[in-house]
Amino acid sequence: MSRTPLIVGNWKMHKTIPETVDFCLRLKEELGAAVGPRVAVAPPFTSLLAAAQVLKGTSISLSAQDVFWAEGGAYTGEISAKMLAEVGCRFTIVGHSERRQYFHETDEAVNKKAAALIKEKLIPIVCLGETLAQRQEGAAFAVVEKQTRGGLEGLAVKDPENLVIAYEPVWAIGTGQTATPEQAQEIQVFIRKLLEKIFSSPMAREMRIIYGGSVKPENISELMAMADIDGALVGGASLQADSFRQIIHGAIK
Ligand code: PGA
Repeated sequence: MSRTPLIVGNWKMHKTIPETVDFCLRLKEELGAAVGPRVAVAPPFTSLLAAAQVLKGTSISLSAQDVFWAEGGAYTGEISAKMLAEVGCRFTIVGHSERRQYFHETDEAVNKKAAALIKEKLIPIVCLGETLAQRQEGAAFAVVEKQTRGGLEGLAVKDPENLVIAYEPVWAIGTGQTATPEQAQEIQVFIRKLLEKIFSSPMAREMRIIYGGSVKPENISELMAMADIDGALVGGASLQADSFRQIIHGAIK
């Protein structure tokens, strides 16, 4: 099994261009050449180019936070996968719960976005997870299954490196309330079984499933101790280079 941990910093709608440059310079300095886990940062669209310039030649990858599935055309305000590849992105987050909640993103849209990314050789980080109400109703597994199948079925993934799933229980995002390692592990094993059915056993074994929701330096090690947690999608705690660095170091399995 060779699932190198992956730590992704999701900046959401934070950081100007000078702040991005500052952060990336610091991260580059602090991490040095050999970091262990694979690392990516996901700045807003306006900061991607600046981040790419600073991170060029380092092992730190760039991720976008969203994409539109069409190759081009009259889609005011949208950005294509080709544009993201051109600016230096390696990954792109799709289906984040904030996009599902505020921008009505459906599983079908997530699926089309992921397919468009794969076509451009970008790695989708497909986010999914249940809300608090759904968990309390006992519907967590059903919701996760629907989102996993709806988001991933039919994707032409040939190499398990080329798709990442992020399990992010909505009730844990930005709330300070992390899922317990056992809660996350339970769902992530379930997702891996679904990946077996959607793709194949060898693919499911090698594909990364990362966890997101109030990950911080204090809880990364216990999360990473779980067999099926292959890294983290970090929001709030990824905004300071110091706490992000601590998370990266804490993620070494
Ligand atoms: P959080 O966000 O770490 O601030 O909870 C995680 C995410 O939204 O990806």
